[in-house]
Amino acid sequence: MVRVFRLAYVHFGCTDVSAMVRYYTEVLGLSLTEEEGGRAYLSTAFDHHNIILSPSSEPGLKGFGLQLAPDLSAAEAHAALQRMGIAAEMKADSLPAIPEIVQFTDMDGFEVHLFSQMEATAPGFRSEGIVPNKVGHLSLRVRDAKRSVEYYKQFGFVNTDWIESFFGFMTCNRDHHVLNFCTSDRKGMHHLAFELRDYSHLVRSMDYLSKHEIPVLWGPSRHGAGHNIATYHRDPEGNMIELFTDADVFIPELNMFEPRPWHETIPQRPRVWGTDECITRWGTAFEEALV
Ligand SMILES: [Fe+2]
Repeated sequence: MVRVFRLAYVHFGCTDVSAMVRYYTEVLGLSLTEEEGGRAYLSTAFDHHNIILSPSSEPGLKGFGLQLAPDLSAAEAHAALQRMGIAAEMKADSLPAIPEIVQFTDMDGFEVHLFSQMEATAPGFRSEGIVPNKVGHLSLRVRDAKRSVEYYKQFGFVNTDWIESFFGFMTCNRDHHVLNFCTSDRKGMHHLAFELRDYSHLVRSMDYLSKHEIPVLWGPSRHGAGHNIATYHRDPEGNMIELFTDADVFIPELNMFEPRPWHETIPQRPRVWGTDECITRWGTAFEEALV
């Protein structure tokens, strides 16, 4: 098994990189750390990059990077993937700030990078824009969520919740979910989520979106699985972006989530949710269907 501990970056292809850079810097409040070969690299605060934007005639998710557990080198991960029967390639200096990447294509055709080290450019948090804490989670449309959940267990991910049998949540750390998988006829990203500090930050962020004439599509409301208070909007290329706060904290040693006053049970454990009870705990009705 190969163990990872976080989602470090997400790569988008863009028909208009400049418009996307404007959104990710001026609206979302990330720092532009490097531009090279038509690509732009953006950081939430610490890493050289958490978002990569590259020119493409096909906008949307190109891939994502997972950081390996500290006791695992890229070469060791590459060897482990070979033993697992997953074809992977070692690449040196293919991205700035990351000396070595193990690259492979997952069972649904997403390009995945595993790496051990990334230079910390550490631009800090900006004072303008929404300015999230971090990239929270990535949600993917896949052929069969059950199969994808089993596949990612090979990388140290643990299955937390399910919505019925079509939407599986997985974590590789204490966040309720880092990746999740939605069974769909369409391949691609469902949404990318950024963690905010608290509910007042979420409200201010929606005022900020309004100032930039970006409509909020759904929310705010509290989900069931994860219990995050979430809102959704789209970036300039149509990628669904979630802003959230208050997500569950997983305690793998106890197979439960840290207790919260709004939990349905104490202890709250990984479970299977019905769609309606999971999408909103507040019963709020929105025109936009999330699943
Ligand atoms: Fe989400």
